[in-house]
Amino acid sequence: MSWQTHYAEHTMPVEEAIKRIHSGDRVVTGHACGEPTYILDAMVAHADDYENVEIVHMVPMGKSPYCAPGMEKHFRHNGLFLGGSTRAAVAEGRADYTPTFFFEAPRLFSTTLPVDVAVVQVSLPDEEGNFSLGISIDYTYEAVMQAKTVIAQVNPQMPYIYGKTTIPAEKIDCFVLHDAPLIELASPKIGPVEEAIGANVASLVHDGDTLQLGIGAIPDAVLKFLTDKKDLGIHSEMFSDGVVDLAEAGVITNAKKSLHPGKYVVTFLMGTRRLYDFVDKNPDVYMAPVDYVNNPFVVAQNDNLVSINACVQIDLMGQVASESIGYKQISGTGGQVDFIRGASMSRGGRSILAFPSTTKGTISKIVPLLDEGAAVTTSRNDVDYVVTEYGIAHLKGHTLRQRARALIAIAHPDFRPQLQEEYERRFHEKF
Ligand code: COA
Repeated sequence: MSWQTHYAEHTMPVEEAIKRIHSGDRVVTGHACGEPTYILDAMVAHADDYENVEIVHMVPMGKSPYCAPGMEKHFRHNGLFLGGSTRAAVAEGRADYTPTFFFEAPRLFSTTLPVDVAVVQVSLPDEEGNFSLGISIDYTYEAVMQAKTVIAQVNPQMPYIYGKTTIPAEKIDCFVLHDAPLIELASPKIGPVEEAIGANVASLVHDGDTLQLGIGAIPDAVLKFLTDKKDLGIHSEMFSDGVVDLAEAGVITNAKKSLHPGKYVVTFLMGTRRLYDFVDKNPDVYMAPVDYVNNPFVVAQNDNLVSINACVQIDLMGQVASESIGYKQISGTGGQVDFIRGASMSRGGRSILAFPSTTKGTISKIVPLLDEGAAVTTSRNDVDYVVTEYGIAHLKGHTLRQRARALIAIAHPDFRPQLQEEYERRFHEKF
């Protein structure tokens, strides 16, 4: 049977496709801006047809209606990374969080979390009948490979991206044609705090470095302050529109990369239509599953790899909580540790944690002790540079005393006296 015949015979309305999902199934979906919301919404509209369907994904960028109160008997969300639309359900015990390094997520689908159904969004097919998973390759690719049933929304607005991103028509059991804009992530707001952080981070980035940019407002904002650099490269779990600005300005050329020279290497994308048009059939973009892109041994093959990530809290020893506020899980480990470890093994590599010294202007992010219940995302052994609007603290290879001094020096001035008191108590010396 030709792929065209398979495609035609397996194309159906969404209501038909979701009948292939049964009570008790584990459904793994694409995530972030590639989330297949059209199909997820149809599942929720038919919630009474399901009992105990587990919905697994990472970054939620849609409204996650399956997490609404009352939905728990139909759907149980299992988040590998939480966001605004899923946090409450987990905090209230109606959904779950599974800790994982991002690069290990695909492996879960052939071990602990076997996949019944993969629900994804794909591009239009190429001439050979291959559909690109577009802006969410990451764990989605392996979910498709492992699933017993694959349901795909074919969306002409999904870019076709080169690399290891495509699946053959025959791998898809149900095609649902639906043309709709992809979810977009707006550019971050830049104020004086972000400007100062950006300038501090820029002083640690050298011409020819290869960058990883983490999730959140700060890593993206930092890009605006790299305009005087030359020949930067990208090997990142994700990136946003800020990279397009630097590409168009000739700052990012990928020319000096030691692995995949000339290519933007990435596993998922979140931005606006401008970003999605930039990556569409762009021969300079290479997307691949996260077990390759984020694998610390692969990351380390990039010389001068600089990772830039954010966190929630850091204590005076350098232990970093990036995914929870006390007991409340707010996001996930994601690729932070994958890249921090890769950067530390990269020749000339550096890792940076950059964040405003306070949140909401009243809570210090540099603290004597992490909040009770906080998960340590990045251990004190892994941390390298820490940056706030007040400066740069270098922790790697430094004693506990030196670390505490360096961190207090970049804390918000309002919180330094209490941190200094803690220093004097802990180290038995005047600050
Ligand atoms: N105490 C109390 N609340 C805090 C806090 C603290 N120390 N730090 C942050 N918060 C609150 C913020 O006020 C904000 O609350 P709101 O939603 O009510 O506005 C919320 O937590 C999110 O913080 P914000 O700083 O706006 O988040 P961000 O979008 O810039 O993301 C991280 C920052 C740390 C959450 C994000 O980078 C992350 O999840 N990192 C871990 C994974 C990672 O780095 N992956 C790498 C690539 S995926």
